[in-house]
Amino acid sequence: MSLANRDLITIEDFSNQEIEAVFALADEMSGSLSQQSDVCRGMIMASLFFEPSTRTRLSFEVAMNRLGGRVISVVEMSNTSLAKGESIADMARVVGSYADIIVIRHPWEGAAKVVADYAGVPVINAGDGGHEHPTQTLCDLYTLKKERRTLEGLKIALWGDLKYGRTVHSLAYALARFGATIHFRPSPGFEMPEHVIRKLTAEYAGILERFNGVEDADEKGLFPLDAMYITPSGPHQLANIPAVGIQIELEKGVDALYVTRLQKERLDTAAERQELEKNHRVVDRKLLRKKGFEETIVMHPLPRVDELAYEIDADPRSMYFKQAERGVPIRMALIALLLGAKELDIPAAKGPSFARKRDYHVYKRDTGLRCRNRECVTNQETETRYIKPEFEIVSNDPLTLRCAYCEHEIHPQYIASSKWHQGIAENKRYYYADSFMLGRIQQENLIIFDSEDEALARGFKLGKKSHKE
Ligand code: NCD
Repeated sequence: MSLANRDLITIEDFSNQEIEAVFALADEMSGSLSQQSDVCRGMIMASLFFEPSTRTRLSFEVAMNRLGGRVISVVEMSNTSLAKGESIADMARVVGSYADIIVIRHPWEGAAKVVADYAGVPVINAGDGGHEHPTQTLCDLYTLKKERRTLEGLKIALWGDLKYGRTVHSLAYALARFGATIHFRPSPGFEMPEHVIRKLTAEYAGILERFNGVEDADEKGLFPLDAMYITPSGPHQLANIPAVGIQIELEKGVDALYVTRLQKERLDTAAERQELEKNHRVVDRKLLRKKGFEETIVMHPLPRVDELAYEIDADPRSMYFKQAERGVPIRMALIALLLGAKELDIPAAKGPSFARKRDYHVYKRDTGLRCRNRECVTNQETETRYIKPEFEIVSNDPLTLRCAYCEHEIHPQYIASSKWHQGIAENKRYYYADSFMLGRIQQENLIIFDSEDEALARGFKLGKKSHKE
C-alpha cells in the first residue's frame, strides 16, 4: 500500500496501521541513515517556517538531505511575499510548482490545510498555531513504542500548557486511538480546550472524568489532576467510586509524564500572563523520587524553558533528547512515503481498534457564519478574500459547529429551512436553534444564522414555532 501524494495535516489523517508502518520504515532507516542517499534523489522539499523552530525544521531538512533530495527554505514571513499581502493559497500554488513536497509551520490555525488545498503536492503540517503538530506526535509515539514496547493501553500524564500546546492536542487524539488512559495535569488556567475534549469523548468512545481536588498534587509537586480520559477498555467503574478508585489509580503511576512549556507567545490576556507567573511547577529529581514514578519516563517536545530541571537530564527515565533525535528517521520515513519513494508494509491490526467516528454533515452555506477563533486562518484579512468558512455539525444538542480549519466550535442561535412553505418568499421563517424545529429540518436543507439580523437581512421572519424549550 502506498502513502504517495497524501498530506499530513492532522494526526487523524493517518490510521493506526499507517502510523505503525511509518515506524517500521523509520526502524529500517535508522540502522543505516547514511545509506539512504538514493531514496529521494532528484526531489525537492520546500521547508516554509513562519514561526521559530530548531528541531522540527532542522530534522526535516536533515531527513531530506539524508534521503539524497534537496531543500529550499524560507524561515521568516518578512522575507516572502506574504509580507506584501499575498495569500497563503497563492504562495502554496507557486511553491507547489517548484517543489515535490512542502513542509509548513505557520502561526495561524488551519494554515497548513489551506496550503494542502492549493499546493497540488504532498503537504506536511509542522505546526499550525495552537492547533496541531502531527509529526511531533509521530516522534512521541515512536519513543513510547521504543521505551514501552507497545502503544496499546498506555497510561500517560499530559502536563503544563494543554490549552495552547499544539503537540498535546495531536498526541491526545493519537493516544486515545491506541487505547491509552490520559491524565490531564494542566497548569491551572491552561486546561485542554473543550473542542479537544469533545472529540476525545464523542469520537473515541472513552469517557472523561473531571476532578475537583484530587489532591495527590501538592504533596507530589504535580499540577492537580484536572481530568482523566478513560479508554473504552479501561476500568469504567472509576466513575462510580471516584474517590477510592482514583486514588488507587494514581498510586499505580503512569508510563510517561509528557511535559510542555507554557506557550507564552500565544497568551492573549494579561490575566493569563499573571496565571503563568503564579503557577510554576518544575519536574525535578525530587519529584521523580516519589512513589509511583519509578518506571515513569519523562518526555517533552522541547524546547524547555524552566519546567524541566537540568539535573534530571542524566536520569535514564529522561527521554526528551532521544525523542528529538528520533525525529530524523521518522521524518525520513514520512518524506519517502509521501513522495512515493517507498511503499508501505501495513502490519496486521493488533488489539482492539478505537476507530474514529466521522460522518458529520458539512455546512458550507454562505450565511454569514464565522469561526470565533481569532487565530483561525479563516479570520485573517489576506485569506477572507477566497476562503469560504466551512463547518461540521458535530452536535444538535446544543447546535454545535466545528470549524473545518482550526476545529474550534461555535454555537449559532438561529436556524431555518431552505424549503419554506409552498416556495413563497413570504413564508420564509427562522427559528431558535434550541427549539424542536432543529430536529424537524433535514440537514441538507438546514440554514444557520449567527444573529437575527442575518436572518432578517435574508428575508426570513421569526416563525411561530420558534419558542425556546
Ligand atoms: C513544539 C512546537 O513547536 O509546538 N516544539 C517542537 O516542535 N519540538 C513545542 C514548543 O514549542 O513548546
